[in-house]
This record gives sequence, C-alpha cells and structure tokens, in this order.
Amino acid sequence: MKVTVITVSDRAFKGIYEDLSGSAIEKILKQHFDNIEISKIIVPDEEKQLLEVLDNSLKSDFVITTGGTGLSERDITPDVCEKYCDKALSGIAEILRAESYKETPNAMLSRGFAGIKNKTVVVNFPGSVKAVTLCTKTLIPIMEHTVKMLNNEAH
Ligand code: MTE
Repeated sequence: MKVTVITVSDRAFKGIYEDLSGSAIEKILKQHFDNIEISKIIVPDEEKQLLEVLDNSLKSDFVITTGGTGLSERDITPDVCEKYCDKALSGIAEILRAESYKETPNAMLSRGFAGIKNKTVVVNFPGSVKAVTLCTKTLIPIMEHTVKMLNNEAH
C-alpha cells in the first residue's frame, strides 16, 4: 500500500515548528502495516501548491492530509480537496468527526472531507497530533479493503 501524507501548514512549511502530525501519522501506519510505502510532504495553506502535490500523489492508494480543516481564513484543505475529487466518501469524514467528538466537542469545527480521485482516496485530518493519532487509528481498519475495492479485488 502506498500512502502520501501531506501536512498543510504555513508554519510547518516555513519551519517555524516541526511537522509533528505528519510524523505521527507515518509512525502509526508503519506500526500497523508491514507492506507500506509512505511519502511525506509539507505545503503551505495555498490552493495552487496543494493541488500540485495532490496531482503528484495519484500513484498512491491513500493521500492523507493534516491541517487546514478549521475555520481560519487560510484553512482551505477541505475546499480544495472536495473540488479536486471525483466522488465524496462521506462516511469516512462523518466517522472521523464522530470518533473525534468523543475526544473533544471542538471536533465539530473540523470541516475535513474525504473522497476519491481516480483510484486514490483522499482523506483530510485536522492538524494536531492528538487528532491525527485518533483519526489514523480510526481509518486503519478500512484501508486495505478500500484499496482492494478500488482495484476490483473485493466487494
Ligand atoms: N479531532 C480530534 N480527534 N482531536 C482534536 O483534538 N481538535 C479540533 C478538531 N478536531 C481535534 C479534532 C479542533 S480544536 C479544530 S479547530 C479542528 O479539528 C480543525 O483543526 P485544523 O484547523 O488543525 O485542521
């Protein structure tokens, strides 16, 4: 399974702080899957750069983004990904929010989107390590089956 992890953050991109969330996603995925190839990239909260990285990630089975799902003016991740995808996978976004709500009511403020572009699943996580830890663990149980379904190997 190939996964691209995109950290969408002006401050992580500028090196003002370390990309802890992208690394946390990578670590948890590697703990769960032996046969996983992970690429990690950081982009600022800019539509053009995010679109470019999405386009370059279409060989991946999953693209997981972290950050930019909130309410500030520069939070554009879900909007860009929704426009970019062919279909929505609303169940993923709904369950990530529902599970996150058990952790904090602020989960309601995450506008995270999930969808499919060609045969790649794009999933938005919020920006914090706490959030990505829970969201990665929530997503893991369906990842392999999703890849099989998209490659017509399962129903
Ligand atoms: N989801 C989980 N599981 N845990 C959290 O701590 N924080 C929330 C929410 N989702 C949080 C969470 C908060 S405080 C915000 S503002 C939104 O995600 C959006 O975060 P983002 O702008 O970093 O994407």
